[in-house]
Amino acid sequence: MKSIQVRDKKFDIYLTKEKIQETVKAVAEMMIPDLHDKNPLFVIVLNGAYVFAADLIRHFEFDCEIAFIRLSSYQGMQSTRKVKEIMGLTQDVTGRNVVLIEDIIDTGTTMAYAKKRFKEKGAADVKLAAFLFKPNAFEENYTIDYIGMEIPDDFIVGYGLDYDECGRSYPDIYVVNSK
Ligand code: IMP
Ligand code: MG
Repeated sequence: MKSIQVRDKKFDIYLTKEKIQETVKAVAEMMIPDLHDKNPLFVIVLNGAYVFAADLIRHFEFDCEIAFIRLSSYQGMQSTRKVKEIMGLTQDVTGRNVVLIEDIIDTGTTMAYAKKRFKEKGAADVKLAAFLFKPNAFEENYTIDYIGMEIPDDFIVGYGLDYDECGRSYPDIYVVNSK
């Protein structure tokens, strides 16, 4: 579809599902040499990252574990700069090679918080994998180890990403039409 309506806003096609899958494969190929012999613990940051994570992880034919946390910082189309931990991790991460999987890094607040929490809990290493990155919105200075694609500072939906909890199910990614 060229355009979709999500709640009160119109969105136009931005990344097709074919381009998305190509990008996911490229991210996996960056990660495999680093992680295949590390028995990593992949921590999926809910809600948005579940679709990307499901596609990414199916490229990994080696020993690994999967866990979920749920963090929230966005309201409508704006970051609140405050991270709420809605669901934390229950297992021990001491000495583990943790890889946080995120859909998109915008101001960077959410992943700064998560990285710090996992270091405090005793993880040996905490890496970040994000499908999308908005460099012009980034307000932090940590390294993002694996990035699918850099995009302008525009609001997008689809492929797990939502606008007020709507629009996550679309297989393509759409950008808000500001006209
Ligand atoms: P940050 O803490 O500002 O880096 O924001 C990261 C979180 O905000 C992501 O996990 C997303 O849930 C959400 N987010 C950031 N940009 C967008 C967007 O364009 N569309 C939908 N959600 C977004
Ligand atoms: Mg998210």
